Amino acid sequence: VAGARAAATAAGTLEALCTALAAFEGCDLKRGARSLVFADGTPAARVMVIGEAPGRDEDIRGKPFVGRAGQLLDKMFAAIGLGRDRAAEHGLYITNVLPWRPPQNRDPQPEEVAMMLPFLHRHIELAAPEVIVLMGNHSCGALLGRKGITRLRGNWAEVAGLPALPMFHPAFLLRNPAAKREAWRDLLMLQARLRGDPAD
Ligand code: URA
Repeated sequence: VAGARAAATAAGTLEALCTALAAFEGCDLKRGARSLVFADGTPAARVMVIGEAPGRDEDIRGKPFVGRAGQLLDKMFAAIGLGRDRAAEHGLYITNVLPWRPPQNRDPQPEEVAMMLPFLHRHIELAAPEVIVLMGNHSCGALLGRKGITRLRGNWAEVAGLPALPMFHPAFLLRNPAAKREAWRDLLMLQARLRGDPAD
């Protein structure tokens, strides 16, 4: 992990961080993956979304959240006026805890998360969003050190000094459509925070 920390710290821009990841040999997932999935959207966006890891579609296309879960993610944020191809004010910047697809989409292993965490922290620092959305349990585990998305969601937490909102992962919502009610409430909380509403 010391090597990961040194490589991440040395990167002074998002481009340099992406290059450092491409050159990093300390995580076995890289060898089984087709693509490095770094990020998508508007780097200057106010909102940074952090998912779990690339799946099959993401591994093929080299971009985060481009499969079925990604389509739902885009719809969810579009409902509050945010999108990955929009200017900073209404933009989204999207990445994952892990930049390589785990084999057969298995859960991230604790050693993999620990190894890649320095890169993720640097990624947050360089993107410098106003607000972070933690998509799902693994994102919460990695950045809050706590899991239990059912309890965590809808409550503002803090990551690197920034407000962070845990939400249900869209892949979970595809399997549990009834939970979309809570997801909608959380999106409205995010919208209120971005508007500076006192009631959020
Ligand atoms: N699920 C994630 O957590 N991230 C992706 O990029 C795709 C699916």
